[in-house]
Amino acid sequence: MKGAAPGDAPKNGAKFRIEPIAEKLPFDFPELIVEAERQGHEFVRRFVENWQAGKERFSGPGEGVFAAFLGTKLIGIAGITADPYLGDANIGRIRHVFVTRAARREGVASALVATCLERGRRFRAIRLRTRNPDAARLYERFGFAPVDLKDASHIRKARP
Ligand SMILES: CC(C)(COP(=O)(O)OP(=O)(O)OC[C@H]1O[C@@H](n2cnc3c(N)ncnc32)[C@H](O)[C@@H]1OP(=O)(O)O)[C@@H](O)C(=O)NCCC(=O)NCCS
Repeated sequence: MKGAAPGDAPKNGAKFRIEPIAEKLPFDFPELIVEAERQGHEFVRRFVENWQAGKERFSGPGEGVFAAFLGTKLIGIAGITADPYLGDANIGRIRHVFVTRAARREGVASALVATCLERGRRFRAIRLRTRNPDAARLYERFGFAPVDLKDASHIRKARP
């Protein structure tokens, strides 16, 4: 993505693709869970468990969850829902952004986040929480502003 504006074609766009997850989870999610947990991120497992239990399917207005693939290999995920911390259907939340270490710095997360923002364009504002300064840099490139809230580190208001 060097020099590219968010939403531009990723620099290796021909090499990976983004697909919505609709029913069946990609078969190699267990590997993604293991890699994420090794790095201290529990949220990939939580996503899979909630999906399999039918508790959360990212299927409401403006919601969606997306996978990035390199060939047939799952290399990342990201989703957007109404913000569960607020109970306001007009405020969205970016969730579960994870890219495998081997696939990082190739624009994969940027492509996933751009896809989430496009899906969530009905939301008046979109929030998220990250403690990762690298991720913060990514979100700030998409127009998210840092905030100091218990349940959010960044917010992006819809353009009027
Ligand atoms: C944060 C994460 C999602 C970034 O994924 P990625 O596919 O490497 O991100 P991109 O290649 O799209 O990076 C876009 C921009 O974000 C910033 N960025 C991402 N990783 C960075 C790093 N390690 N160091 C510095 N800046 C970084 C840069 O500005 C980068 O643009 P550039 O490559 O042109 O400099 C990935 O490192 C990850 O999964 N980390 C662990 C999980 C996590 O922290 N998720 C976020 C929780 S909300």
